[in-house]
Amino acid sequence: MGSAEAGVTSLAVSVVLEGLRRLEYRGYDSAGVAVLAGGSVHVRKKAGKLANLAALVKAEPLPAAAVGIGHTRWATHGAPTDVNAHPHQADDGRLAVIHNGIIENDSLLRSRLAARGHVFRSETDSEVAAALLADNYRSLDGDRAGDGPLAAAMRRTCQELEGSFTILAVHADHPGLIVAARRDSPLVVGLGDGENFLGSDVSGFIDFTRRAVELGQDQVVTLTADAVVITDFSGRPAVGNEFTVEWEAAAATKDGHSSFMAKEIHEQPEAVRRTLSGRLGSDGAVSLGELGISDKALARIQKIVIVACGTASYGGQIAKYALERWCRIPVEVDLAHEFRYRSPLVDDRTLVIAISQSGETMDTLMAVRYAREQGATVLAICNTVGATIPREADGVLYTHAGPEVAVASTKAFLTQVTATLLLALYLAQMRGSGDPTEISAAARELAGIPGRVQSVLAGAGQIEALAASMADVTSVLFIGRHVGHPVAMEGALKLKELAYIHAEGFAAGELKHGPIALIEPGQAVVVIMPSPAASPVLHAKMMSTIQEIKARGGRVIAVGEEGDAATTADALLTVPASSPLLAPLLTAIPLQLFAASLAGAKGLDIDQPRNLAKSVTVE
Ligand code: F6R
Repeated sequence: MGSAEAGVTSLAVSVVLEGLRRLEYRGYDSAGVAVLAGGSVHVRKKAGKLANLAALVKAEPLPAAAVGIGHTRWATHGAPTDVNAHPHQADDGRLAVIHNGIIENDSLLRSRLAARGHVFRSETDSEVAAALLADNYRSLDGDRAGDGPLAAAMRRTCQELEGSFTILAVHADHPGLIVAARRDSPLVVGLGDGENFLGSDVSGFIDFTRRAVELGQDQVVTLTADAVVITDFSGRPAVGNEFTVEWEAAAATKDGHSSFMAKEIHEQPEAVRRTLSGRLGSDGAVSLGELGISDKALARIQKIVIVACGTASYGGQIAKYALERWCRIPVEVDLAHEFRYRSPLVDDRTLVIAISQSGETMDTLMAVRYAREQGATVLAICNTVGATIPREADGVLYTHAGPEVAVASTKAFLTQVTATLLLALYLAQMRGSGDPTEISAAARELAGIPGRVQSVLAGAGQIEALAASMADVTSVLFIGRHVGHPVAMEGALKLKELAYIHAEGFAAGELKHGPIALIEPGQAVVVIMPSPAASPVLHAKMMSTIQEIKARGGRVIAVGEEGDAATTADALLTVPASSPLLAPLLTAIPLQLFAASLAGAKGLDIDQPRNLAKSVTVE
């Protein structure tokens, strides 16, 4: 898995390297580039971050070229080494291939191709795709679709491959040409003026063009400087869906911040404002005419299942509280990778909500497909316009957070929660469910949330100082009740992935059922406090929990409302008051800042934590 980037232009090396820089967040354990020049393929590849490849290209320059492909990898088959890095070569070095995804029948194909004399150099499934393409290229007679023998060989190859893939290939026999194919993994075409591009997403070529074409499932594209030809895997002509990229190239830069994550955390007021924009009237009425699912269909819904992974699944768990309380519809939240393997009870009166920032997470995509097969209506909540999940869903509610580049999700999470709250309010207003006074108060309060998010960010300095004093901590527990529970789990995930600190998030009520055994003098426990005014009963219970922790020497860091004087915590990170169901939009922020600051204090790479990738396009 990784990111693919390619261009047919006069400056192939620099275009490809710049594209990879923008796409590096998708995977970053090795990188490589291949260009076509002087009748041969020239490859440079290197384990480690893109900077290693850039240094190699500087030390061993590539020739000026009009065509190039490049890749950043997130290892699935084989360790991140120079040899396993893409591109992979075949056909005596005349063919170079990059691949995202997983080839599931790679052992079978590997033995078959080895028996035919192919010598494999790497441990990757991707080299198998390269070898198979070379084999088909040599053995195919005739090109029935008229787009050349490499495209014909690619189609045959795709028919033989099982699994998910985006494959890009260049061949020395065809200067000026890139052939690519996709099944399940993403691939977008960029249309330039006398130059064309391919990328795992549009940020790879946003510096050069805003005109993009979405490729459909199981399609092959042949790219030259002035033509883009698309077919399906059988060679029938196909037409991609052209769209214009709305955001500016600047949206994919750090814009003066120390990291993309810092920038994205600080963009949250604006991001939430964009999610609400045009959907929430000044009278509190929510209009979601854009959903693509009729009110009639929504009125029939008897059950909701939310599917998502990681941070997005915590967004889903928060949504459950609002959907059940306001809409009076039972809600289940499933990790997408568990959903289809447990025989879930899903039928044509079930609304499945798939939450995904990227819209490409393979686990979530597979859950979407399974849900549709069972007859459910699927609504995607997604940040990436035109991604696979919204395309395959019945309807979509875009979060409009703008591009999220840092691997750890921040503004995408906040806007996912915002979008699900909007949806819950919409369903409640449409179905006439819940307490109308509470619902209209919540809608009015939601409109003011961006300003309150801004005021939480104003307290960043206090959190940074706290984090700096805790740089040597080795374990942090996070606890919460009600919506504070998923917030606690999200806080723990952020700390694990960014600062590599062991962290666990759980329901505060569970503490006494086991985890309290972990509390020893100095153990840090982050407590998400319910509002004393809006949730006095839960607040009182949390106060008792704090006492239990402190009685055993634990160090309590509370995230609570300004003026929550009752807390006896060692530190209080404050957020403005809110009604309970909206509180996660505020309480999640100090936890983002805490994790980022601790990672910063430990000198870690905040945007690209080890072993991770932004879009997990393998199952
Ligand atoms: C953690 C994080 C991940 C993603 C998860 C789902 O900070 O970002 O847990 O939330 O991989 O990704 P999407 O939302 O793209 O489906």
